[in-house]
Amino acid sequence: MAKLGAWGAGAHHDEQLVKSRQRVADHGEVFTPRWLVDDMLDLVKSETERIDSRFLEPACGSGNFLVPVLERKLAAVQARHGRSDFEKRHYALFALMCVYGIELLDDNAAECRANLAATFARYISPSEGIWLRAAEAVLAVNIVQGDAIAMTDATDGHIVFAEWGYLGRGKYQRRDFRFDDLTQRASASVGLFEAFEEHEIFSPIRTYPPMTVQELAA
Ligand SMILES: C[S@@+](CC[C@H](N)C(=O)[O-])C[C@H]1O[C@@H](n2cnc3c(N)ncnc32)[C@H](O)[C@@H]1O
Repeated sequence: MAKLGAWGAGAHHDEQLVKSRQRVADHGEVFTPRWLVDDMLDLVKSETERIDSRFLEPACGSGNFLVPVLERKLAAVQARHGRSDFEKRHYALFALMCVYGIELLDDNAAECRANLAATFARYISPSEGIWLRAAEAVLAVNIVQGDAIAMTDATDGHIVFAEWGYLGRGKYQRRDFRFDDLTQRASASVGLFEAFEEHEIFSPIRTYPPMTVQELAA
């Protein structure tokens, strides 16, 4: 798509914040400049620097928030696990597993996955194809093309998110939950559901056996 010369106020010289007037009108598509993203992330700085904190951007665009979140998490991986290649790579993939997005438009969703994959690849040695394939498999699950308001995916099915965990010794766990169930979590702490334990209300729709990076990449 041609650049239309529509630049948002405060944008860095090579930062394109608007793709077309039509897309702004149709989808409210205006991207957030990096300086503003950084300022906003600093408001929850300790969470952005925690490897296992989970971030969901329900209108993620091409990842202007999710990429810097991943960068901060990878800096935490380097500080904590940078001395062991094994731990560093496994925790880097786990950091990626904790980043989620929903985006209505297929080109933005694809760009978001590609931008996150490139950020991960810069951190992991480029010769390690298996790690990049595992990262792509995770991103295919975590960055959903869909409607965050209707909570449906591109095929009008329920949006499903994977809850990933790193069990140590090279094994990951995965449990899938419906997004519309997860959004009830806040209201469940009061009122009708308060007498129930959380696990009685929210059960995964699928639980996987522990997986290695090789299994994820396959
Ligand atoms: C204002 S832009 C923000 C993009 C990104 N969060 C950023 O700050 O750069 C809003 C994005 O939400 C997407 N969008 C609009 N309606 C949506 C919906 N119902 N569900 C998911 N995404 C939606 C648009 O395509 C657009 O990419």
